[in-house]
Amino acid sequence: MSESQPGAPVPRHGLWRNQWIFVLAATGAAVGLGNIWRFPYITGENGGGAFILVYLVSVLALGMPIMMSEILLGREGRHSPVTTMRHIIGRLGKSRFWMLIGWLSVITGLFIFSYYAVIAGWTLHQTTEYAGQITGQVSTDDAKSRWDAFLANAPRLILFQTAFVILAVLAVGGGVKKGLEVVTTWCMPGLFLLMLVLLAYSAWQGDFANGLTYMLKVDFSKLGADGMLAAMGQAFFSLSIGMGSLMAYGAYAPSNLSITKAALTITLLDTLVAIVAGLIIFPLVFAYNLEPGSGAGLLFITLPHVFDTIPAGALVGTVFFVLVGLGALTSLIALIEPATAWLVEHFNAKRLRVAISIGVFCWLLGLGSALSFNYWSKLYIFGSMTFFNVIDKLTANFLLPIGGLLIALFAGWVLPADLVREQLRLGTVGLAIWYWLTRVVAPIGVILIFISSL
Ligand code: PHE
Repeated sequence: MSESQPGAPVPRHGLWRNQWIFVLAATGAAVGLGNIWRFPYITGENGGGAFILVYLVSVLALGMPIMMSEILLGREGRHSPVTTMRHIIGRLGKSRFWMLIGWLSVITGLFIFSYYAVIAGWTLHQTTEYAGQITGQVSTDDAKSRWDAFLANAPRLILFQTAFVILAVLAVGGGVKKGLEVVTTWCMPGLFLLMLVLLAYSAWQGDFANGLTYMLKVDFSKLGADGMLAAMGQAFFSLSIGMGSLMAYGAYAPSNLSITKAALTITLLDTLVAIVAGLIIFPLVFAYNLEPGSGAGLLFITLPHVFDTIPAGALVGTVFFVLVGLGALTSLIALIEPATAWLVEHFNAKRLRVAISIGVFCWLLGLGSALSFNYWSKLYIFGSMTFFNVIDKLTANFLLPIGGLLIALFAGWVLPADLVREQLRLGTVGLAIWYWLTRVVAPIGVILIFISSL
């Protein structure tokens, strides 16, 4: 695929093979722990259906326009978010204030990556546990005590964290064609396939009727203002918007890509995966009379109770945690791509070398999160928050919303309309809707999330 847009800068890091690979890679960035771990337990905590309804509205009204803005900016600049912003600002003669968008994308990505790799490691631990049970090494402890023992074991947490850091570094170090595309091509079809297998299993062994009712029953009395804001925040985190991942990916998108169709597809797939994850988890949880609103432990404690009991549980558990691990890996690479691309441009350095340096930095930072579950669990950095809690809150509640807000304001109010029109290729009505969402609805929504976290 050659770059045919007249006068467009040459993409510095190469192009995706075709538009479908772009859509798949961006879906890989979006689908991850946010969908399979965070979405079901937050839904559980907020009473099910009503939460999902607010989530869907947020995804469409808030997430889609910001996602489109990010892809648009990336494809316009064709570089890392930092260089892209510098070029666009320079060409249009706009304030350097907007460089914040570029810098935030680097910083937020590194921060999220640091703890995300630790949690991704948990899926690898669970995979080895259940794979071990298939081969006969059955532990007699219950799921809760096994889990507590694991969290207390810092070297083991760090071991699995390290494994994910290495995988992500190798993928990003390989570049767009030999790294990101390869991981996308293998992980995403695998993820979809495993999801279908598990969905079928859950329909067979789970209490599907109750699981479905739980997710569809819209009862707003169980959803307070907090729940509504949590739904908006979740939409944000899950779509990977507000931190330049999709701007970086958009920089490698072919010019014949329809940004609107791509954003719609990514959004729908991301939402579908979240819903299907719920449809796998809740019927199983109900079939064994467990608590759907059990919080963050839903995936790592409650669900293992099920796997310990159901027919072929060890195999199903193995498949399930491999699936979550695949989703986590494709998100991890998206988190460090902006920083990697920028350093490659800035120092004209070898990609692999840059990726390794970033990996080492994030690994060190991530140790703080890994230790937050054992040695440092009583080391409160702020109030009663551990290092992990601080990084998590700082990124999800502050940096992502601020990034998203700036992106929406910049794309909606600062970019010249003809540039937007040329990139989005929407009709008059479509463009009017996009402007209305990007200029007014998304900024107000983001400000609401932001205020709620204060
Ligand atoms: N969207 C990812 C998930 O749902 C997390 C993520 C956020 C990835 C921001 C990249 C950038 O797990």
